[in-house]
Amino acid sequence: EIPNPPLPLADGSLKLVNDPAHPFIAAGPNDIRGPCPALNTLASHGYLPRNGVARPDQIVTAVMEGLNLGNDFAKFLAYQAFLMNGNPITNLMSIGMKTPLTGPDPPKPALVGGLSQHGTFEGDTSMTRVDAFFGDQALFNEDLFQGFISTSAQFGFNGTYDVNAAAELRFQRLQNSIQTNPQLVFTSPRIISAYSEAVFPTIFFVDGRLNNGQLTIDAARHFFDFQMMPDDFHRQPAPVNFTMVDPLTKAIFDKHPFSPGVNHGKNNFVLQPQTPPLADFCGIYEDIVLRVIPGQYPRPTGILRENINKNLGFFFGAVHAEHNCTQVFPFGRD
Ligand code: HEM
Ligand code: MG
Repeated sequence: EIPNPPLPLADGSLKLVNDPAHPFIAAGPNDIRGPCPALNTLASHGYLPRNGVARPDQIVTAVMEGLNLGNDFAKFLAYQAFLMNGNPITNLMSIGMKTPLTGPDPPKPALVGGLSQHGTFEGDTSMTRVDAFFGDQALFNEDLFQGFISTSAQFGFNGTYDVNAAAELRFQRLQNSIQTNPQLVFTSPRIISAYSEAVFPTIFFVDGRLNNGQLTIDAARHFFDFQMMPDDFHRQPAPVNFTMVDPLTKAIFDKHPFSPGVNHGKNNFVLQPQTPPLADFCGIYEDIVLRVIPGQYPRPTGILRENINKNLGFFFGAVHAEHNCTQVFPFGRD
């Protein structure tokens, strides 16, 4: 019943992806969009269902086809998100707010909150979205985008958003939240998405024919704000996996290292030494599987347990492909 994860693309080469088969159509009043500029854009071009509700395998296919994510990397993101924010019974997930379109919920404390659910995949210190404490954590914010532009002007090559701009913006957003958000949480699993999402735009939002790691503000405006690919946009020239993203993530981290922690009131960042740091990838994998997911599914039984276990297996498959972690089984093995 649950489809297996998609295989790698048969042809993962450079290609026009803003093509006539995938026209931009702005989201209508009933179409859901959320905190991820990439998935929003893919939905608005029909790589994902335009209403913003999708199966995890559809998300894997969409990011491979539309942006040339490597198969393992695509599965890592999609199944991680699905386990935290999707409906394991209907196999559907919202790319934004919670919706009845994902079907009847499994019993609480399951959230099935969609990608906008704060404190799961979505978290604090986003680049173009405010922290949930201040307002809508899924909505593009122009003031923050102005900060994105000025940081790129100051640190990026020729005013582009490049890896140097990414390092500074990531640091600034963290410092800003430490100073202003009394409820800041910056621990696993948010730390891993915070750093990788700072790098992603320098890769995937740059036209694959150029592929120079320098995102123009115009292209950034298209993806982040308009949820639209630039005219004539071509995807990456080859599938991009962990092996390419990890060194860049490490590079921006090393410019401004930090330790995981939470604010106890404004400007009072308390370290959480018992939680895994960014460098401990397998520790973060285990934290997701042994703490975060059982937080919503303490004792799943029957079909619920069966489906969650399947998705845990798909998730581990992606983790294992390029990181040598040991699989953990919160609900026993099948
Ligand atoms: C943010 C999910 C793929 C780029 C997010 C967030 C989620 C998410 C939940 C919100 C995190 C936060 O900022 O609080 C996913 C899932 C993917 C995926 C499930 C499945 C494959 C991609 C891809 C890109 C991308 C392929 C390529 C550029 C971004 C960026 C942000 C983001 C740049 C940060 C936005 C900001 O900080 O303002 N994503 N994403 N994502 N995503 Fe994705
Ligand atoms: Mg956020």
